[in-house]
Amino acid sequence: TWDPSRRPSSDLRGQIATGWKIIRKALTEEKRVSTKTSAVDLVTETDHLVENLIISELRKRFPSHRFIAEEATASGAKCVLTPSPTWIIDPIDGTCNFVHRFPTVAVSIGFAVHQELEFGVIYHCTEERLYTGQRGRGAFCNGQQLTVSRETDLSKALVLTEIGPKRDPATLRLFLSNMEHLLHAKAHGVRVIGSSTLALCHLASGAADAYYQFGLHCWDLAAATVIIREAGGIVMDTSGGPLDLMSCRVVAAGTREMAMLIAQALQTIDYGRDDEN
Ligand code: IPD
Repeated sequence: TWDPSRRPSSDLRGQIATGWKIIRKALTEEKRVSTKTSAVDLVTETDHLVENLIISELRKRFPSHRFIAEEATASGAKCVLTPSPTWIIDPIDGTCNFVHRFPTVAVSIGFAVHQELEFGVIYHCTEERLYTGQRGRGAFCNGQQLTVSRETDLSKALVLTEIGPKRDPATLRLFLSNMEHLLHAKAHGVRVIGSSTLALCHLASGAADAYYQFGLHCWDLAAATVIIREAGGIVMDTSGGPLDLMSCRVVAAGTREMAMLIAQALQTIDYGRDDEN
């Protein structure tokens, strides 16, 4: 069972610490790299190692809970969010960065009960920043409360996105045309940092005004969604409707006005659903 008065960040500190030490050490070492859904969707033995460690530790403490995790899903496990208490885990977010020693990588752990996101923890492995959010209790980075930007004008916005793993010509055309729309609207800038969870943490911190992406997964979104909402921000579907965690698409922003402007500028890139594979 889950007691909502608990402080999840203290529960998770041990798991996160084990994970980040392994990731930090492996970052500069030789890696065995394999591919998953495309030639640019990468995985290493460290992704598997950290995921297995986190799950086995959590399972010892919460034997009845369920797990959705990136590498288990890639290996064929079902990715379905039921009403049961469920941990949603990305052991290394920014695996491509990790492979290239680009130091923007995170561990992300979200938790949902009755299909409602309760809390999320994201750890920036090289800068040692712990982002936490718990429903109704605020969002923090290393103990400092987070607040989103209040910007509503797209022509004053710094926008974040990620490319996603598909590289066929039709997908690339849509990806570039979406970015072109925002540049035509004179957004101050569009940034791609290679880790959707850390980009979403920048949004929660007020260091960017909006984020959008097609092709991210529930393990990229679960923890970050709670953190952004608790920092006062909006997380929604690219249609402008409510977020669907399994839909592989998202718009997030500090204000609803900004989120709607981004949503209206986007053409959909179809990535299917996490719960259909
Ligand atoms: C990926 C990264 C990447 C984003 C992908 C994510 P991974 O996560 O966040 O920036 O474009 O959509 O799935 O594979 O490194 O855990």
